[in-house]
Amino acid sequence: MEPPHLLLPLDRTAPAPLQVQLYEALRQAILAGRFPAGFRLPATRTLSADLGVGRNTVIAAYEQLAAEGYVDARTGAGTEVAALPPDRLLAAGPGDRRAANLPSATTLSKRGASLAGLRAPPPVPGMAAFQPGLPAVELFPHTLWADLMAKAARRPLAPSLGYDEPTGEPALRRAIAAYLAAARGVNADEDQVIIVSGAQAGLDLTARLLLDPGDGIIVEDPGYLGARAAFLGSGANLIPVPADADGINLDLAPLAAAPRLIYVTPSHQYPTGATMSAARRLTLLDRAAQWGALVIEDDYDSEYRYRGRPLPALQGMDRDGRVIYLGTFSKTMVPGIRAGYLIVPRALAEKFRLALRVTGHFVPPAIQGALTRFLEDGHFARHVRRMRLRYQDRQEIMVGSLQKHAGGMLLARPADAGMQLAVPADTRDDQALARRIIAAGINARPLSVYSLGPGVMRGLHLGYAGVPERLIGPLVKRLCQAALQRGN
Ligand SMILES: Cc1ncc(COP(=O)(O)O)c(C=O)c1O
Repeated sequence: MEPPHLLLPLDRTAPAPLQVQLYEALRQAILAGRFPAGFRLPATRTLSADLGVGRNTVIAAYEQLAAEGYVDARTGAGTEVAALPPDRLLAAGPGDRRAANLPSATTLSKRGASLAGLRAPPPVPGMAAFQPGLPAVELFPHTLWADLMAKAARRPLAPSLGYDEPTGEPALRRAIAAYLAAARGVNADEDQVIIVSGAQAGLDLTARLLLDPGDGIIVEDPGYLGARAAFLGSGANLIPVPADADGINLDLAPLAAAPRLIYVTPSHQYPTGATMSAARRLTLLDRAAQWGALVIEDDYDSEYRYRGRPLPALQGMDRDGRVIYLGTFSKTMVPGIRAGYLIVPRALAEKFRLALRVTGHFVPPAIQGALTRFLEDGHFARHVRRMRLRYQDRQEIMVGSLQKHAGGMLLARPADAGMQLAVPADTRDDQALARRIIAAGINARPLSVYSLGPGVMRGLHLGYAGVPERLIGPLVKRLCQAALQRGN
Protein backbone atom coordinates (compact mmCIF):
# COMPACT_ATOMS: atom_id res chain seq x y z
CA MET A 1 0.00 0.00 0.00
CA GLU A 2 1.21 3.49 -0.84
CA PRO A 3 2.17 5.19 2.46
CA PRO A 4 0.17 8.30 3.30
CA HIS A 5 1.63 11.77 3.47
CA LEU A 6 3.00 11.63 7.03
CA LEU A 7 2.25 14.28 9.58
CA LEU A 8 5.69 15.14 11.00
CA PRO A 9 6.28 18.53 12.64
CA LEU A 10 9.51 20.18 11.47
CA ASP A 11 10.46 23.69 12.48
CA ARG A 12 12.87 25.37 10.09
CA THR A 13 13.47 28.24 12.51
CA ALA A 14 14.50 25.96 15.39
CA PRO A 15 18.20 25.55 16.14
CA ALA A 16 18.07 21.72 16.00
CA PRO A 17 19.15 20.38 12.57
CA LEU A 18 16.33 19.04 10.39
CA GLN A 19 17.68 15.47 10.43
CA VAL A 20 17.58 15.48 14.26
CA GLN A 21 14.04 16.92 14.25
CA LEU A 22 12.93 14.34 11.72
CA TYR A 23 14.52 11.49 13.69
CA GLU A 24 12.83 12.74 16.90
CA ALA A 25 9.42 13.19 15.24
CA LEU A 26 9.54 9.66 13.79
CA ARG A 27 10.73 8.19 17.09
CA GLN A 28 7.90 9.87 19.01
CA ALA A 29 5.33 8.67 16.49
CA ILE A 30 6.66 5.10 16.78
CA LEU A 31 6.67 5.18 20.60
CA ALA A 32 3.17 6.62 20.73
CA GLY A 33 1.96 3.79 18.51
CA ARG A 34 0.96 6.11 15.66
CA PHE A 35 3.30 4.10 13.43
CA PRO A 36 2.83 0.53 14.70
CA ALA A 37 5.13 -2.47 14.16
CA GLY A 38 5.24 -3.38 10.48
CA PHE A 39 4.23 0.12 9.36
CA ARG A 40 6.15 0.85 6.16
CA LEU A 41 7.85 4.26 6.17
CA PRO A 42 7.87 6.07 2.83
CA ALA A 43 10.89 5.69 0.57
CA THR A 44 13.54 8.30 1.35
CA ARG A 45 12.95 9.99 -2.00
CA THR A 46 9.17 10.24 -1.36
CA LEU A 47 9.51 11.58 2.18
CA SER A 48 12.12 14.13 1.18
CA ALA A 49 9.77 15.40 -1.55
CA ASP A 50 6.72 15.37 0.79
CA LEU A 51 8.55 17.31 3.50
CA GLY A 52 10.60 19.54 1.23
CA VAL A 53 13.91 18.48 2.83
CA GLY A 54 17.05 17.05 1.27
CA ARG A 55 17.15 13.31 0.69
CA ASN A 56 20.31 13.02 2.78
CA THR A 57 18.39 14.45 5.76
CA VAL A 58 15.88 11.61 5.50
CA ILE A 59 18.58 8.97 4.98
CA ALA A 60 20.42 10.19 8.08
CA ALA A 61 17.25 10.10 10.20
CA TYR A 62 16.35 6.58 8.98
CA GLU A 63 19.89 5.34 9.65
CA GLN A 64 19.79 6.66 13.19
CA LEU A 65 16.42 4.98 13.83
CA ALA A 66 17.73 1.71 12.35
CA ALA A 67 20.88 1.88 14.48
CA GLU A 68 18.71 2.22 17.61
CA GLY A 69 16.39 -0.62 16.60
CA TYR A 70 13.25 1.45 15.98
CA VAL A 71 13.06 0.41 12.32
CA ASP A 72 14.31 -2.43 10.15
CA ALA A 73 15.79 -1.39 6.85
CA ARG A 74 16.04 -4.25 4.36
CA THR A 75 17.30 -3.76 0.87
CA GLY A 76 14.41 -3.94 -1.55
CA ALA A 77 11.77 -4.21 1.23
CA GLY A 78 11.93 -0.58 2.37
CA THR A 79 12.01 0.63 5.95
CA GLU A 80 9.53 -0.84 8.41
CA VAL A 81 8.80 -0.02 12.03
CA ALA A 82 10.29 -2.75 14.23
CA ALA A 83 8.38 -4.69 16.89
CA LEU A 84 9.50 -2.86 20.02
CA PRO A 85 9.90 -4.52 23.40
CA PRO A 86 7.51 -3.15 26.01
CA ASP A 87 10.30 -1.48 28.04
CA ARG A 88 11.03 0.75 25.04
CA LEU A 89 7.41 1.76 24.94
CA LEU A 90 7.48 2.56 28.65
CA ALA A 91 10.53 4.77 28.24
CA ALA A 92 8.47 7.18 26.23
CA GLY A 93 8.87 10.92 25.95
CA PRO A 94 6.74 13.84 27.17
CA GLY A 95 3.78 13.08 24.91
CA ASP A 96 3.32 9.78 26.64
CA ARG A 97 3.43 11.29 30.10
CA ARG A 98 0.40 13.28 29.05
CA ALA A 99 -1.26 10.02 28.11
CA ALA A 100 -0.75 8.82 31.70
CA ASN A 101 -3.53 11.26 32.63
CA LEU A 102 -5.93 9.31 30.42
CA PRO A 103 -8.64 8.51 32.98
CA SER A 104 -9.37 12.16 33.73
CA ALA A 105 -8.90 13.28 30.14
CA THR A 106 -11.50 10.76 29.01
CA THR A 107 -14.05 11.46 31.72
CA LEU A 108 -17.29 12.50 30.06
CA SER A 109 -18.93 15.84 30.69
CA LYS A 110 -22.09 15.70 32.84
CA ARG A 111 -24.14 16.02 29.67
CA GLY A 112 -22.14 13.32 27.93
CA ALA A 113 -22.49 11.01 30.91
CA SER A 114 -26.25 11.39 30.84
CA LEU A 115 -26.30 10.52 27.14
CA ALA A 116 -24.15 7.46 27.75
CA GLY A 117 -25.89 6.44 30.97
CA LEU A 118 -29.21 5.00 29.75
CA ARG A 119 -30.60 2.60 32.31
CA ALA A 120 -32.08 0.10 29.86
CA PRO A 121 -30.03 -3.07 29.32
CA PRO A 122 -28.44 -3.17 25.84
CA PRO A 123 -29.96 -5.67 23.37
CA VAL A 124 -28.70 -9.27 23.33
CA PRO A 125 -26.60 -9.36 20.12
CA GLY A 126 -28.37 -10.99 17.18
CA MET A 127 -31.59 -11.65 19.12
CA ALA A 128 -34.75 -9.88 17.91
CA ALA A 129 -36.95 -11.41 20.64
CA PHE A 130 -38.27 -9.41 22.48
CA GLN A 131 -36.67 -6.04 21.82
CA PRO A 132 -39.20 -3.24 22.28
CA GLY A 133 -39.65 -1.11 19.17
CA LEU A 134 -37.98 -3.45 16.69
CA PRO A 135 -40.06 -3.91 13.51
CA ALA A 136 -40.09 -6.98 11.24
CA VAL A 137 -36.84 -6.27 9.42
CA GLU A 138 -37.10 -9.62 7.59
CA LEU A 139 -40.39 -8.53 5.95
CA PHE A 140 -39.08 -5.23 4.61
CA PRO A 141 -39.03 -5.18 0.76
CA HIS A 142 -35.24 -5.09 0.53
CA THR A 143 -35.02 -5.72 -3.23
CA LEU A 144 -37.45 -2.94 -4.05
CA TRP A 145 -35.61 -0.64 -1.66
CA ALA A 146 -32.26 -1.49 -3.25
CA ASP A 147 -33.73 -0.63 -6.70
CA LEU A 148 -35.07 2.69 -5.43
CA MET A 149 -31.71 3.49 -3.80
CA ALA A 150 -29.82 2.65 -7.00
CA LYS A 151 -32.15 4.84 -9.06
CA ALA A 152 -31.86 7.66 -6.55
CA ALA A 153 -28.07 7.43 -6.57
CA ARG A 154 -27.97 7.46 -10.39
CA ARG A 155 -30.39 10.36 -10.73
CA PRO A 156 -30.03 12.32 -7.51
CA LEU A 157 -32.51 15.01 -6.66
CA ALA A 158 -30.12 17.88 -7.34
CA PRO A 159 -30.29 20.17 -4.29
CA SER A 160 -29.61 17.46 -1.74
CA LEU A 161 -26.12 16.70 -3.07
CA GLY A 162 -24.75 20.02 -1.90
CA TYR A 163 -25.31 22.14 1.19
CA ASP A 164 -28.50 23.81 -0.07
CA GLU A 165 -31.14 21.78 1.72
CA PRO A 166 -30.11 20.98 5.31
CA THR A 167 -33.72 20.23 6.24
CA GLY A 168 -34.12 17.70 3.46
CA GLU A 169 -35.16 17.21 -0.12
CA PRO A 170 -38.20 19.44 -0.91
CA ALA A 171 -40.03 16.58 -2.69
CA LEU A 172 -39.62 14.38 0.37
CA ARG A 173 -40.78 17.13 2.70
CA ARG A 174 -43.86 17.64 0.51
CA ALA A 175 -44.59 13.89 0.50
CA ILE A 176 -44.31 13.73 4.29
CA ALA A 177 -46.53 16.79 4.80
CA ALA A 178 -49.16 15.23 2.49
CA TYR A 179 -48.99 11.85 4.26
CA LEU A 180 -49.29 13.39 7.72
CA ALA A 181 -52.20 15.63 6.68
CA ALA A 182 -54.11 12.61 5.36
CA ALA A 183 -53.19 10.02 7.99
CA ARG A 184 -52.66 12.06 11.16
CA GLY A 185 -54.50 15.37 10.67
CA VAL A 186 -51.20 17.24 10.87
CA ASN A 187 -51.41 20.77 9.60
CA ALA A 188 -48.14 21.91 8.01
CA ASP A 189 -46.56 23.04 4.80
CA GLU A 190 -43.28 21.64 3.51
CA ASP A 191 -41.18 24.44 5.04
CA GLN A 192 -42.13 23.22 8.50
CA VAL A 193 -40.91 19.69 7.77
CA ILE A 194 -37.35 18.91 8.84
CA ILE A 195 -35.80 15.60 7.86
CA VAL A 196 -33.63 14.21 10.65
CA SER A 197 -31.73 10.95 11.09
CA GLY A 198 -34.46 9.32 13.14
CA ALA A 199 -36.73 10.55 15.89
CA GLN A 200 -33.86 10.39 18.35
CA ALA A 201 -31.93 12.95 16.28
CA GLY A 202 -35.09 15.09 16.26
CA LEU A 203 -35.22 14.96 20.06
CA ASP A 204 -31.54 15.79 20.32
CA LEU A 205 -31.85 18.75 17.96
CA THR A 206 -34.97 20.09 19.67
CA ALA A 207 -33.39 19.75 23.10
CA ARG A 208 -30.22 21.51 22.01
CA LEU A 209 -32.08 24.35 20.35
CA LEU A 210 -34.69 24.99 23.00
CA LEU A 211 -33.29 23.97 26.38
CA ASP A 212 -30.70 25.79 28.45
CA PRO A 213 -29.06 24.11 31.44
CA GLY A 214 -31.52 24.17 34.33
CA ASP A 215 -34.63 24.70 32.14
CA GLY A 216 -37.61 22.60 33.17
CA ILE A 217 -39.12 19.99 30.87
CA ILE A 218 -42.19 17.99 31.84
CA VAL A 219 -41.85 14.31 30.96
CA GLU A 220 -44.28 11.44 31.33
CA ASP A 221 -43.73 9.11 34.29
CA PRO A 222 -43.22 6.31 33.32
CA GLY A 223 -41.71 7.50 30.05
CA TYR A 224 -39.36 7.02 27.13
CA LEU A 225 -35.69 6.82 28.18
CA GLY A 226 -34.23 8.03 24.88
CA ALA A 227 -36.09 11.33 25.19
CA ARG A 228 -35.00 11.79 28.79
CA ALA A 229 -31.38 11.16 27.85
CA ALA A 230 -31.59 13.80 25.11
CA PHE A 231 -33.08 16.36 27.53
CA LEU A 232 -30.57 15.59 30.27
CA GLY A 233 -27.89 15.84 27.63
CA SER A 234 -28.90 19.49 27.25
CA GLY A 235 -28.58 20.06 30.97
CA ALA A 236 -32.34 20.34 31.43
CA ASN A 237 -34.21 19.65 34.63
CA LEU A 238 -36.72 16.79 34.23
CA ILE A 239 -40.13 17.32 35.84
CA PRO A 240 -41.83 13.90 35.94
CA VAL A 241 -45.65 13.97 35.84
CA PRO A 242 -47.63 10.73 36.28
CA ALA A 243 -49.24 9.15 33.22
CA ASP A 244 -52.24 6.84 33.70
CA ALA A 245 -54.75 5.09 31.44
CA ASP A 246 -55.70 8.49 29.90
CA GLY A 247 -52.12 9.64 29.38
CA ILE A 248 -50.26 12.37 31.27
CA ASN A 249 -52.23 14.00 34.08
CA LEU A 250 -51.10 17.60 34.28
CA ASP A 251 -53.31 18.22 37.32
CA LEU A 252 -50.55 16.37 39.17
CA ALA A 253 -47.77 18.63 37.90
CA PRO A 254 -45.91 20.46 40.70
CA LEU A 255 -47.56 23.83 41.41
CA ALA A 256 -44.26 25.63 40.98
CA ALA A 257 -43.55 23.98 37.63
CA ALA A 258 -42.60 26.49 34.95
CA PRO A 259 -41.61 24.20 32.08
CA ARG A 260 -40.12 25.43 28.86
CA LEU A 261 -41.13 22.18 27.12
CA ILE A 262 -43.54 19.29 27.65
CA TYR A 263 -42.68 15.91 26.08
CA VAL A 264 -45.58 13.51 25.44
CA THR A 265 -46.49 10.37 23.47
CA PRO A 266 -50.26 10.98 23.13
CA SER A 267 -51.18 8.41 20.46
CA HIS A 268 -49.58 5.54 22.29
CA GLN A 269 -47.97 6.31 25.62
CA TYR A 270 -44.49 4.87 25.98
CA PRO A 271 -44.34 2.39 27.68
CA THR A 272 -47.90 1.88 29.04
CA GLY A 273 -49.62 1.94 25.63
CA ALA A 274 -52.37 4.32 26.82
CA THR A 275 -54.03 6.73 24.39
CA MET A 276 -54.31 10.26 25.71
CA SER A 277 -57.98 11.18 26.08
CA ALA A 278 -59.46 14.14 24.22
CA ALA A 279 -60.04 15.99 27.51
CA ARG A 280 -56.40 15.57 28.55
CA ARG A 281 -55.26 16.81 25.14
CA LEU A 282 -57.25 20.02 25.55
CA THR A 283 -55.89 20.47 29.07
CA LEU A 284 -52.37 19.91 27.79
CA LEU A 285 -52.66 22.63 25.14
CA ASP A 286 -54.28 24.99 27.67
CA ARG A 287 -51.62 24.45 30.30
CA ALA A 288 -48.85 24.79 27.72
CA ALA A 289 -50.32 28.17 26.76
CA GLN A 290 -50.48 29.28 30.42
CA TRP A 291 -46.89 28.25 30.98
CA GLY A 292 -45.70 29.67 27.67
CA ALA A 293 -44.26 26.22 26.96
CA LEU A 294 -43.89 24.25 23.74
CA VAL A 295 -45.09 20.65 23.43
CA ILE A 296 -43.10 17.85 21.78
CA GLU A 297 -45.53 15.27 20.41
CA ASP A 298 -43.63 12.03 19.77
CA ASP A 299 -45.86 10.07 17.38
CA TYR A 300 -43.37 7.23 16.95
CA ASP A 301 -45.66 4.27 16.11
CA SER A 302 -49.21 5.55 15.64
CA GLU A 303 -49.53 3.65 12.33
CA TYR A 304 -50.02 0.41 14.24
CA ARG A 305 -53.49 0.51 15.76
CA TYR A 306 -55.52 -2.69 15.80
CA ARG A 307 -58.69 -1.72 17.61
CA GLY A 308 -60.55 1.53 18.02
CA ARG A 309 -60.23 4.67 15.98
CA PRO A 310 -56.90 6.53 16.05
CA LEU A 311 -57.19 10.02 17.45
CA PRO A 312 -55.71 12.63 15.16
CA ALA A 313 -52.40 14.15 16.19
CA LEU A 314 -52.33 16.84 18.85
CA GLN A 315 -50.49 19.02 16.33
CA GLY A 316 -53.70 19.34 14.28
CA MET A 317 -55.60 20.74 17.31
CA ASP A 318 -52.93 23.35 18.02
CA ARG A 319 -54.03 26.85 17.02
CA ASP A 320 -51.10 28.89 18.30
CA GLY A 321 -48.00 27.10 17.02
CA ARG A 322 -47.08 25.36 20.24
CA VAL A 323 -46.59 21.77 19.10
CA ILE A 324 -43.43 20.26 17.66
CA TYR A 325 -44.47 16.99 16.03
CA LEU A 326 -42.00 14.15 15.71
CA GLY A 327 -42.20 10.99 13.60
CA THR A 328 -39.90 8.26 12.35
CA PHE A 329 -39.49 5.71 9.56
CA SER A 330 -37.79 3.35 12.03
CA LYS A 331 -41.05 1.63 12.96
CA THR A 332 -42.91 1.83 9.64
CA MET A 333 -39.82 0.71 7.69
CA VAL A 334 -36.57 -0.29 9.46
CA PRO A 335 -34.48 1.55 12.06
CA GLY A 336 -31.31 1.28 9.97
CA ILE A 337 -32.70 3.74 7.43
CA ARG A 338 -32.14 6.42 10.07
CA ALA A 339 -34.74 8.82 8.82
CA GLY A 340 -37.42 10.69 10.68
CA TYR A 341 -39.03 14.10 10.64
CA LEU A 342 -39.87 17.05 12.81
CA ILE A 343 -42.81 19.32 12.03
CA VAL A 344 -41.96 22.58 13.72
CA PRO A 345 -44.16 25.64 14.25
CA ARG A 346 -43.75 28.24 11.50
CA ALA A 347 -41.99 30.64 13.85
CA LEU A 348 -39.22 28.10 14.42
CA ALA A 349 -38.77 26.65 10.93
CA GLU A 350 -36.03 29.01 9.74
CA LYS A 351 -34.16 28.82 13.06
CA PHE A 352 -34.12 25.04 12.94
CA ARG A 353 -32.97 25.17 9.32
CA LEU A 354 -30.06 27.44 10.13
CA ALA A 355 -29.01 25.40 13.16
CA LEU A 356 -29.26 22.07 11.38
CA ARG A 357 -26.59 23.20 8.93
CA VAL A 358 -23.95 23.15 11.62
CA THR A 359 -24.93 19.84 13.18
CA GLY A 360 -23.79 18.00 10.06
CA HIS A 361 -26.51 15.42 10.69
CA PHE A 362 -28.18 15.07 7.33
CA VAL A 363 -29.88 12.03 5.87
CA PRO A 364 -27.87 10.89 2.80
CA PRO A 365 -29.41 12.01 -0.51
CA ALA A 366 -29.86 8.51 -1.96
CA ILE A 367 -31.93 7.53 1.08
CA GLN A 368 -34.01 10.68 0.77
CA GLY A 369 -34.54 10.06 -2.93
CA ALA A 370 -35.56 6.44 -2.36
CA LEU A 371 -37.87 7.43 0.48
CA THR A 372 -39.57 10.01 -1.71
CA ARG A 373 -40.40 7.34 -4.30
CA PHE A 374 -41.35 4.84 -1.58
CA LEU A 375 -43.94 7.31 -0.29
CA GLU A 376 -45.12 8.77 -3.61
CA ASP A 377 -45.53 5.42 -5.37
CA GLY A 378 -47.64 3.89 -2.60
CA HIS A 379 -45.08 1.34 -1.36
CA PHE A 380 -45.06 2.91 2.08
CA ALA A 381 -48.84 2.68 2.55
CA ARG A 382 -48.84 -0.92 1.26
CA HIS A 383 -46.00 -1.98 3.55
CA VAL A 384 -47.58 -0.40 6.62
CA ARG A 385 -50.94 -2.08 5.85
CA ARG A 386 -49.20 -5.48 5.53
CA MET A 387 -47.20 -4.98 8.72
CA ARG A 388 -50.29 -3.92 10.67
CA LEU A 389 -51.89 -7.31 9.94
CA ARG A 390 -48.71 -9.22 10.75
CA TYR A 391 -48.07 -7.37 13.99
CA GLN A 392 -51.64 -7.95 15.08
CA ASP A 393 -51.10 -11.71 14.51
CA ARG A 394 -47.76 -11.61 16.30
CA GLN A 395 -49.30 -9.85 19.26
CA GLU A 396 -52.07 -12.43 19.50
CA ILE A 397 -49.56 -15.28 19.48
CA MET A 398 -47.41 -13.49 22.03
CA VAL A 399 -50.26 -12.84 24.45
CA GLY A 400 -51.57 -16.41 24.05
CA SER A 401 -48.11 -17.91 24.66
CA LEU A 402 -47.47 -15.76 27.73
CA GLN A 403 -50.87 -16.69 29.17
CA LYS A 404 -50.08 -20.35 28.54
CA HIS A 405 -46.53 -20.49 29.90
CA ALA A 406 -46.14 -17.74 32.52
CA GLY A 407 -48.17 -19.46 35.23
CA GLY A 408 -49.58 -16.15 36.52
CA MET A 409 -46.12 -14.61 36.96
CA LEU A 410 -46.66 -12.33 33.94
CA LEU A 411 -50.08 -10.80 33.33
CA ALA A 412 -50.24 -10.37 29.56
CA ARG A 413 -53.31 -8.73 28.03
CA PRO A 414 -54.00 -7.76 24.41
CA ALA A 415 -53.04 -4.18 23.52
CA ASP A 416 -54.96 -1.96 21.12
CA ALA A 417 -51.88 -0.67 19.34
CA GLY A 418 -48.14 -0.73 18.95
CA MET A 419 -45.27 -3.18 18.64
CA GLN A 420 -44.64 -4.15 22.26
CA LEU A 421 -46.48 -5.16 25.41
CA ALA A 422 -46.10 -3.71 28.89
CA VAL A 423 -46.63 -6.86 30.93
CA PRO A 424 -47.07 -6.45 34.70
CA ALA A 425 -45.20 -9.09 36.70
CA ASP A 426 -45.84 -10.60 40.08
CA THR A 427 -42.45 -9.63 41.49
CA ARG A 428 -40.85 -6.94 43.60
CA ASP A 429 -37.63 -7.06 41.58
CA ASP A 430 -38.26 -6.87 37.86
CA GLN A 431 -34.58 -6.07 37.25
CA ALA A 432 -33.56 -9.49 38.59
CA LEU A 433 -36.39 -11.02 36.56
CA ALA A 434 -35.10 -9.37 33.38
CA ARG A 435 -31.52 -10.44 34.17
CA ARG A 436 -32.59 -14.09 34.39
CA ILE A 437 -34.27 -13.84 30.99
CA ILE A 438 -31.34 -12.00 29.40
CA ALA A 439 -29.01 -14.70 30.78
CA ALA A 440 -31.15 -17.18 28.80
CA GLY A 441 -30.34 -15.16 25.64
CA ILE A 442 -33.66 -13.31 25.30
CA ASN A 443 -34.27 -9.57 25.53
CA ALA A 444 -36.53 -8.39 28.32
CA ARG A 445 -36.62 -4.85 29.63
CA PRO A 446 -37.76 -4.25 33.21
CA LEU A 447 -40.66 -1.80 33.28
CA SER A 448 -39.29 -0.15 36.43
CA VAL A 449 -36.49 1.51 34.41
CA TYR A 450 -39.08 3.85 32.92
CA SER A 451 -40.30 5.24 36.26
CA LEU A 452 -38.91 8.32 37.97
CA GLY A 453 -41.27 8.97 40.87
CA PRO A 454 -43.23 6.77 43.28
CA GLY A 455 -45.77 4.31 41.86
CA VAL A 456 -43.11 2.31 40.04
CA MET A 457 -44.52 -0.20 37.53
CA ARG A 458 -42.96 -3.66 37.79
CA GLY A 459 -42.96 -6.06 34.91
CA LEU A 460 -41.47 -6.51 31.48
CA HIS A 461 -41.57 -4.51 28.28
CA LEU A 462 -41.58 -7.05 25.49
CA GLY A 463 -41.46 -6.31 21.75
CA TYR A 464 -43.18 -8.79 19.47
CA ALA A 465 -43.22 -7.05 16.07
CA GLY A 466 -39.70 -8.13 15.10
CA VAL A 467 -40.16 -11.83 15.86
CA PRO A 468 -41.43 -14.26 13.17
CA GLU A 469 -44.73 -15.90 14.14
CA ARG A 470 -43.35 -19.44 14.34
CA LEU A 471 -40.61 -18.43 16.79
CA ILE A 472 -42.76 -16.52 19.24
CA GLY A 473 -44.24 -19.57 21.04
CA PRO A 474 -40.92 -21.40 21.62
CA LEU A 475 -39.13 -18.22 22.67
CA VAL A 476 -41.90 -17.21 25.07
CA LYS A 477 -41.65 -20.69 26.58
CA ARG A 478 -37.90 -20.21 27.10
CA LEU A 479 -38.50 -16.74 28.53
CA CYS A 480 -41.07 -18.10 30.99
CA GLN A 481 -38.82 -20.94 32.09
CA ALA A 482 -36.08 -18.41 32.89
CA ALA A 483 -38.59 -16.07 34.56
CA LEU A 484 -39.96 -18.81 36.79
CA GLN A 485 -36.54 -19.96 38.08
CA ARG A 486 -36.81 -17.85 41.19
CA GLY A 487 -34.05 -17.16 43.64
CA ASN A 488 -30.92 -17.21 41.49
C1 LIG B 1 -41.08 6.65 21.94
C2 LIG B 1 -39.95 6.62 20.95
N1 LIG B 1 -39.51 7.79 20.46
C3 LIG B 1 -38.47 7.83 19.60
C4 LIG B 1 -37.83 6.69 19.20
C5 LIG B 1 -36.62 6.84 18.32
O1 LIG B 1 -36.73 6.27 17.11
P1 LIG B 1 -35.61 6.46 15.97
O2 LIG B 1 -34.53 7.32 16.50
O3 LIG B 1 -35.16 5.10 15.63
O4 LIG B 1 -36.34 7.12 14.86
C6 LIG B 1 -38.26 5.45 19.66
C7 LIG B 1 -37.56 4.22 19.26
O5 LIG B 1 -37.65 3.19 19.87
C8 LIG B 1 -39.35 5.42 20.57
O6 LIG B 1 -39.78 4.26 21.06
